[in-house]
Amino acid sequence: MATPLFDRSLLPSQEHSRLPSSFSFRPLQSDDFHNGHLDPLQDLAYIGKVDEASWANRFAYMKSCPDTYFVLVITNEQGRIAGTGTLVAERKFLFETGIQGHIEDIAIAKCHQGRGLGLALLNALSHIAAEVGCYKTILDCSAKNVKFYAKCGYEQGGHEMQRYIDEKAREKNV
Ligand code: ACO
Repeated sequence: MATPLFDRSLLPSQEHSRLPSSFSFRPLQSDDFHNGHLDPLQDLAYIGKVDEASWANRFAYMKSCPDTYFVLVITNEQGRIAGTGTLVAERKFLFETGIQGHIEDIAIAKCHQGRGLGLALLNALSHIAAEVGCYKTILDCSAKNVKFYAKCGYEQGGHEMQRYIDEKAREKNV
C-alpha cells in the first residue's frame, strides 16, 4: 500500500478543484517514481540521474519533516502523473511566528498544457497553504510565466536574486 506524503483532508473538494473530468488531485505517494512523477518535471529544469533509490530517499526525507512539504500531483485516468507542484511551509519568527508558503517546481506535462491544469494546481496549492496556516505564498519564475502567475492571482513584488555555489547548477540553470 502506497504512503501519501501528506493528509488527503488538506485537498480542496472536487467541486472547488476545477480540473477537467478525467483528471484528479492527490498527494505525492511513495510509489510515484513508477507513476511518472519525474516526467512533467522534464519540461521545467535539469533533473539529471535520479534512480528509484534516490527518489525514495528524498520522499522519505520529506515525509520525516512534519507539516513542511506538500507535493501535489494531478493524475490522469490511467493513474499517470500529468502535473505536479510543491508547497514548502516555512516557519518564521516574523509576523508573530507566522508561516510563509513557498511555491516550487510547478510543471504540467507538455501534452496536457493549455487545458487549465496549471491554474487548478496553483489554486489547490493555495487552498492547502491556507489550510496549514500560511499568511502568503511566494514564488520565483521566469519572465515568460509572469502572465500565467498573474492569472493565478499572484502580483509582482521585489526582485529575485541568486548566488550560485555549484557551478554545474549555474550551467544547468537550476
Ligand atoms: N504566458 C501567458 N499566459 C499563460 C502562460 C504563459 N506562459 N501559460 C498559461 N497561460 C494562461 C493560459 O492561456 C490560461 O489563460 P486563460 O484562463 O485566459 O485561458 C491561464 O494562463 C491558465 O493556463 P493553464 O492552461 O492552466 O496553464 P498550463 O496548464 O499550461 O500550466 C505552466 C502553465 C505550469 C507554466 C506550464 O506551461 C508548464 O508546466 N510549463 C513548463 C514548466 C514551467 O515553466 N513551470 C513553471 C516554473 S516556475 C515555478 O515552479 C514557481
